Amino acid sequence: MQNQSIGIFDSGVGGTSIWKEIVTLLPNEDTIFLADSQYAPYGKRSKEEIIELSIKNTEKLLNLNSKIIVVACNTATTNAIKVLRATYDIPIIGIEPAIKPAAIHTKTKKVGVLATKGTLSSELFTKTSDLYTQNIEVIEVIGTGLVELIEAGKIESKEMYTLLNTYISPMLEENIDHLVLGCTHYPYLIPVLKKILPSKVSIIDSGEAVARQTKAILTTNNLLTHSTKNGNHTIYTNGDISIIQEILKPIPNKHTIKQLNF
Ligand code: DGL
Repeated sequence: MQNQSIGIFDSGVGGTSIWKEIVTLLPNEDTIFLADSQYAPYGKRSKEEIIELSIKNTEKLLNLNSKIIVVACNTATTNAIKVLRATYDIPIIGIEPAIKPAAIHTKTKKVGVLATKGTLSSELFTKTSDLYTQNIEVIEVIGTGLVELIEAGKIESKEMYTLLNTYISPMLEENIDHLVLGCTHYPYLIPVLKKILPSKVSIIDSGEAVARQTKAILTTNNLLTHSTKNGNHTIYTNGDISIIQEILKPIPNKHTIKQLNF
C-alpha cells in the first residue's frame, strides 16, 4: 500500500493550494488531485448534495489507487467528513478554517473569517469556533461569488476587487488583526488581499497544517512511500482545463493535468 498515491479532492481548482503544500512536504509521494469544477461551488449546495459529491470523488480516488484521502475543501470537510470516515477504511484527512492560531495570536481580540455559506453554517465549524474563541469576537463573512470568479480565472478582475472590498470592510471596521481564509480557493487571492488589507492584518490559511497532518497520519499508519525518487503527480479536472493550467503555471512543471469525467 505504501506505493499507492495520496488522493486529494476539492470542489474545484482551489484545493491545489493544499496539494502544493503536500507535494512540498512529501516530495517522494505520488499524488492524484481531483478538481470537481463541474459541480462547483459546493458552498451553495445542501449538506446531502455535498455528501453525495464527496462520496463520488472518494470512490474515484479509490479507483485510481489512493492510500489516503485528503479532503482539500473546507465545505466538503465540514459537511461530509463524518460520513466519509464512517464509510471508508482508509485514513481521511480534512481541512477546517484555522481559527485556533488566529485566536491564540490576536491582540485586538477580533478575528475575521472569510468562508463559504456551507462552511460557516456547518455544525463542525460552529463547534470549533466556539471552542477557541471564548474571549474573542469572530467576524464571519460569506465570500459569495469568490469561488465562481476563481473558477472562471478572474482572480485579478475588477469584480474580484469590488467583492473583496465589500467583504473585508466590515472586518476592518471591527479592527481585526487576523484574517482566516476558510476556503481552499482563497489562498489564490492573497496577492489581491494584500493590496486591500493594512499590513497589521495577518492572513492565515490551513495549507501547511494539512500537509503536516497528512505526513503524521501516513507515518502512524506505516503508509509512507519508501521511494527516494520524485513522486508522480496527476491532476484531473472535469471542468475547463485551461483554468487549472493557468492557476498552476507558476509551479515547476512536475505534474500532468488531464481532463476526466467523474
Ligand atoms: N475550496 C472549497 C472550500 O474550501 C470551495 C467551496 C465551494 O465550492 O463553494 O470550501
